[in-house]
Amino acid sequence: MIPVIAIDGPSASGKGTVAQRVAEKLNFHYLDSGALYRIVALSAQFQGIGETDENKLNQLTKSLRIEFKEGKILLNKQDVTESIRSEECGILASKIAAVKSVRDVLMNVQHQFKQHPGLVADGRDMGSVVFPESMLKIFLTATPEIRAQRRYNQLINKGISANINDLLQDILERDRRDLTRKESPLKQTPDAHFLDTSALTIDQAVNQVIQWFSDVSN
Ligand code: DC
Repeated sequence: MIPVIAIDGPSASGKGTVAQRVAEKLNFHYLDSGALYRIVALSAQFQGIGETDENKLNQLTKSLRIEFKEGKILLNKQDVTESIRSEECGILASKIAAVKSVRDVLMNVQHQFKQHPGLVADGRDMGSVVFPESMLKIFLTATPEIRAQRRYNQLINKGISANINDLLQDILERDRRDLTRKESPLKQTPDAHFLDTSALTIDQAVNQVIQWFSDVSN
């Protein structure tokens, strides 16, 4: 049996950082499922495919060669690690993520990450749809204001100018879309632990996840 830790939550909640650190500590594989939707969005934008063109999006998703290698994300051998992180790409990813046939193609891609000795997967539907058999499920969140502040700090640290009110509006709009879409909406499953990181450091959040994992492993 391969253990899976599913960490789901809204955008900019810090789940990516926490999931990555937990994977490092346990020496598990790590799946950033949001990156897959961002890659489809980037390619669709590049090829001029509209966010509602289901047939073309399905063909496009099937054709992508995606690799996660040494901390880099490659699309058809090109490094897209940074370019998929823009706000614009995140917003388009959230729109394209509502297309069922895109989700179906990415489902198989995601299942391939489940390998020994274990997997930490982060996203919106890891515990509810993609890995319902997960040994540990976590719903990780923070208030929209804190998430906007964290995103703002991230951008400023990278030397990118940002407006906190615009970021907060983007976050609220993305929450609305991710929570209300028909296909695999973001939701806390009854068997998931709730982790509000608004007042926690990254280390505290990581330690809590490791503690829960050790509880279910024993
Ligand atoms: O986690 P993120 O912000 O990088 O994800 C970008 C978008 O992709 C998010 O707004 C919704 C979508 N997504 C999804 O629908 N299902 C997932 N498992 C992960 C992301």
